[in-house]
Amino acid sequence: MGSGFRPIYKWIVFCCFFAICLLFLPQQKSDGPSPKFRALQPVTTILDDSEDANDSNGFQSDGTDGTDVSYVTALPLYFVESSKCKIPYVDPFGADAMAIYKPMVYEPCSNDTALVTPIYDVIRRRYVLHINETLASLLLKSSEIEYNCYYQEIKGSSSDGYDSVDRKYYSQDYVVPVHVQGLILGCHRIDNTSHILQSDAYTLVQYKAPPPGLFLEPSKRKPSVIMFGIDSLSRINLRRTMPKVYNFLTRSGWYELQGYNKIGDNTFPNLMALLAGYSPESARENVCDWETQGCLDQIPFIWKYFRNASYLTAFAEDESGMNTFNYFKPGFKEQPTDYYVRPLQKAVESDLDTWKCAECSMRYCIGRRETSSYAYDLCKEFARRYVDERPIWGLFWSNSFSHDSYRMPSKMEDYVLQYMLDFEADGVFEQSIVIFLSDHGTRWGDLMYLESGFLESRLPSMFIYLPPWFRAHYPEYAQALELNQHRLTSNYDLHNTLKHIIEIGGDRDTDGRKPELPKSHDCPKCHSVFYPMDEHRSCEDAGIPEHYCTCLPYKRLSGDWPLRIAPRVIDRINEYLSGRNLSAICANLSLSYVHETEILIPLDQNFHDDMSVSETAVYRTMFKVKQNSADFRATVVFNNVTEALEVNVTSISRLDSYENDATCIDDKTDKLYCICLSNLKE
Ligand SMILES: *[C@@H]1O[C@H](CO)[C@@H](O)[C@H](O)[C@H]1NC(C)=O
Ligand SMILES: *[C@@H]1O[C@H](CO)[C@@H](O)[C@H](O)[C@H]1NC(C)=O
Ligand SMILES: *[C@@H]1O[C@H](CO)[C@@H](O)[C@H](O)[C@H]1NC(C)=O
Ligand SMILES: *[C@@H]1O[C@H](CO)[C@@H](O)[C@H](O)[C@H]1NC(C)=O
Ligand SMILES: *[C@@H]1O[C@H](CO)[C@@H](O)[C@H](O)[C@H]1NC(C)=O
Ligand SMILES: *[C@@H]1O[C@H](CO)[C@@H](O)[C@H](O)[C@H]1NC(C)=O
Ligand SMILES: *[C@@H]1O[C@H](CO)[C@@H](O)[C@H](O)[C@H]1NC(C)=O
Ligand SMILES: *[C@@H]1O[C@H](CO)[C@@H](O)[C@H](O)[C@H]1NC(C)=O
Ligand SMILES: *[C@@H]1O[C@H](CO)[C@@H](O)[C@H](O)[C@H]1NC(C)=O
Repeated sequence: MGSGFRPIYKWIVFCCFFAICLLFLPQQKSDGPSPKFRALQPVTTILDDSEDANDSNGFQSDGTDGTDVSYVTALPLYFVESSKCKIPYVDPFGADAMAIYKPMVYEPCSNDTALVTPIYDVIRRRYVLHINETLASLLLKSSEIEYNCYYQEIKGSSSDGYDSVDRKYYSQDYVVPVHVQGLILGCHRIDNTSHILQSDAYTLVQYKAPPPGLFLEPSKRKPSVIMFGIDSLSRINLRRTMPKVYNFLTRSGWYELQGYNKIGDNTFPNLMALLAGYSPESARENVCDWETQGCLDQIPFIWKYFRNASYLTAFAEDESGMNTFNYFKPGFKEQPTDYYVRPLQKAVESDLDTWKCAECSMRYCIGRRETSSYAYDLCKEFARRYVDERPIWGLFWSNSFSHDSYRMPSKMEDYVLQYMLDFEADGVFEQSIVIFLSDHGTRWGDLMYLESGFLESRLPSMFIYLPPWFRAHYPEYAQALELNQHRLTSNYDLHNTLKHIIEIGGDRDTDGRKPELPKSHDCPKCHSVFYPMDEHRSCEDAGIPEHYCTCLPYKRLSGDWPLRIAPRVIDRINEYLSGRNLSAICANLSLSYVHETEILIPLDQNFHDDMSVSETAVYRTMFKVKQNSADFRATVVFNNVTEALEVNVTSISRLDSYENDATCIDDKTDKLYCICLSNLKE
């Protein structure tokens, strides 16, 4: 109960603080840049973490006149504010969110010391397996009892599974053969092979020598790119659940693309745009059908370009059941990158003990460590091995903790921060471009019922770090990126940026030119974020479909709105069917339930004002009908006084497949709205 007093106490301190600041405000010079601010909600944790004077909430003051506080306590109004695009800033600590949000506490997967550790010997460039003999005696409660240690090599297999080689026994400081990329380790009593003292698993980044003639001096070097991804993490929820990580990402050299807007609903379309420059539909049309075996191997993913430019490549995702290219898809036949975590991830999921925390939906621990650690440790090891040595590219992705709960990232805050600090200690930030990213925000659950739910699901995190040598050598790229922080951007731009990075370090051909790589296929107007984006860029320009576009934001509505609008849309569909003389063969539709109802906030209105509904406004509704559970989404003009509703029926989207619902008619448009009486399911 004691903790209940803390916020009140903070509130009082805050109010005094604010009052004092107000006294000083009039003296403030007003000639500086004055981003628009709005009053702060009385809940903030940013103040708690302000021991680092350089890391305010993104607006650094010059610190000369003691006005820091006014910056810290003011929030921006918009992430992007341009002529065609106004993306509202959402206060992560707003009262509505704080009323439902409770941070979670980190739980370690194991408190034990490791019994066997693969140690990389930098002189020999080989891994050795070191056994902690003290710990073995402790575990056996005797130094007399003998034990044996073994490893099992884990290899990829052509059937998207893994092969595990028979146990191989070894003795202290055994040198692991260079072909071993992943292993499961264990030690047991010599007289009982099932009395296991400890099991463990590791991916190894075995050394690969650079090709001859690779340049490392700045003017010719190829920048390494490390991409660290967390599924379903909006920039709003990152600020709320991982303020320490967010603070880290505001350090010098980091740029946040605050106008980065998702281009598709879930992970697959967003990563396809980022990694291939295609939307799923277009890839299917222009490359191959990714639902058939072998197609994904043919898609021109970015790692192929990196590899051709003599980069080493890595790709890792945790929770194998949800992997982007395997979830309802056939996956890769050939290992896509030089280092690839999936075989080991599958092996540990089935061979080691797993554990779920109380509020977890996916495995939280596998063996002695967090589910995501196998992917992220590969990242750490990969960077550590090569960062000073040769150019590398890798994407390291986790969905296990963040996909199903918007609160879980708070549990992992220190864990994620530790990876950043480890990168720092390993010199990653001196050499490499680092991208900290997500694919989209939370798509269901409590946050979706807030007014900001529309923005939450569409505004993923996107932070880009440029190392000092890169900023010094390419100041114009750093300047453009700085500007683009408040311009609309998408994954298609990021794809082009990765291609741009390859071109920057690219070798010249025999005519002395750097060959240009093909850019995002599905966004002709997209370009690298190292060039300034147009001020009047629209979602269409950035390849963002209208439905996901946040430039013209909507607000979630509750109360009786859903039932005032959706049934009238259904009436319009029924009228359309009867107007087409189809009433005799198509079912008369009726509402099952409303998924969501939203109101458009026009550019000339302030998103943050209390809702003042004008008599006629634009609304969006998504609903399900009883007939075969068909889903629809409509954008309508509704008059809240006369209750008159205007909609073009043929512009209403059908969200699920009509294939088995409309076999009685041929017209493509009618099929969207007709549930044939003959196809009606009970
Ligand atoms: C703030 O930044 C300056 C210059 O970049 C640096 O010298 C100083 O150590 C930083 N202070 C903190 C507290 O990080
Ligand atoms: C690790 O130690 C903490 C603190 O003693 C304890 O609460 C936790 O249950 C332990 N975890 C495991 C996995 O043993
Ligand atoms: C070996 O294990 C013991 C007992 O857990 C521990 O105190 C010691 O620090 C470990 N040694 C190393 C090098 O990790
Ligand atoms: C071997 O170890 C297992 C696991 O600790 C134990 O259940 C089993 O009884 C042991 N067998 C013998 C023969 O001691
Ligand atoms: C990589 O290089 C090979 C050999 O030159 C070439 O056939 C292939 O098309 C290149 N791939 C890409 C994605 O550029
Ligand atoms: C529907 O039927 C009526 C009379 O049966 C006819 O006048 C009308 O043209 C038909 N409309 C369409 C769209 O077929
Ligand atoms: C169709 O359903 C609506 C309710 O959605 C109802 O008001 C209307 O009478 C029905 N029309 C027919 C022809 O059954
Ligand atoms: C309907 O619109 C009027 C006029 O703008 C507004 O005052 C009223 O609050 C709205 N009613 C509802 C229920 O939103
Ligand atoms: C319906 O379509 C017409 C013509 O295309 C357009 O003028 C009108 O604004 C549309 N109405 C709605 C509600 O979208």
